[in-house]
Amino acid sequence: MSEGPIVLLSGGSRGLGLVLARHLLASGFRVATFSRKPSDALDSARAEHGEKLRVMVGDMADADSLRPIVSEVERDFGPIEALVNNAGIAHAGLLATMPPAEIERMIAINLTGALLLARLVVRKMIVRSRGSVINISSIIGQRGYSGLAAYSATKAGLDGMTRALARELGERQIRVNAIAPGYLETELTDELTETQREQIVRRTPLGRLGTAEDIAGTVLFLLSPASAFITGQTFVIDGGITC
Ligand SMILES: NC(=O)c1ccc[n+]([C@@H]2O[C@H](COP(=O)([O-])OP(=O)(O)OC[C@H]3O[C@@H](n4cnc5c(N)ncnc54)[C@H](OP(=O)(O)O)[C@@H]3O)[C@@H](O)[C@H]2O)c1
Repeated sequence: MSEGPIVLLSGGSRGLGLVLARHLLASGFRVATFSRKPSDALDSARAEHGEKLRVMVGDMADADSLRPIVSEVERDFGPIEALVNNAGIAHAGLLATMPPAEIERMIAINLTGALLLARLVVRKMIVRSRGSVINISSIIGQRGYSGLAAYSATKAGLDGMTRALARELGERQIRVNAIAPGYLETELTDELTETQREQIVRRTPLGRLGTAEDIAGTVLFLLSPASAFITGQTFVIDGGITC
């Protein structure tokens, strides 16, 4: 059996999740990740890292698909040291005209799925009195953005979950934190118009959109002993756009 603490990471097939998986692996963690579809990028990471990377299929919107993922990882891979709730979708549109099914889907994936996955994982962590949960939130949950009311609600919900769960699990030495990125260069922001993109860059003191690499260091910090006394916090990483 290969060594290294195990991180369960939702949505590692592309975007931020893929970069997080690569950084975690490079830092000595073993990674179990799932998404609705596998990706070529994950396949090549698998070829590079072998047994240290476990790739599964699962849907955050399907509660029944989450339980087997957690069971399989714990049974065949090892105890989950950390959960990174990263999978998420963002549909832009005015709330007044957004189809209810689209709102419900965003809530199911970004918020309910994250809660249900955390529920399954922290049950294991409670028994061991150790572990860490990191929720990937967004500055949109704190500041809002026209056209992202439903998405914003899911991310504000995640921040609330982070604080409440940190209180609930502190005495078991399980830490729960969130990272709220600003706008990142991933497929999720492909929907931005050129005007929106220019406006974001203009308003960002550091003068650019973020990259997934800008987030990875904080994830590693939150999984390291250097953050042993930090829980219940949301870390904003946004080039200063909300300052
Ligand atoms: N990009 C940004 O500017 C930005 C800013 C702030 C916060 N965030 C947050 O960062 C996280 C990652 O975003 P990203 O930019 O990397 O997005 P992305 O490039 O669209 O990747 C999303 C990942 O989540 C997976 N996913 C989506 N729906 C899923 C479902 N129902 N079940 C399981 N996996 C699912 C996707 O794989 P499949 O589609 O194959 O399932 C993919 O691996 C999200 O929570 C997002 O809200 C992003």
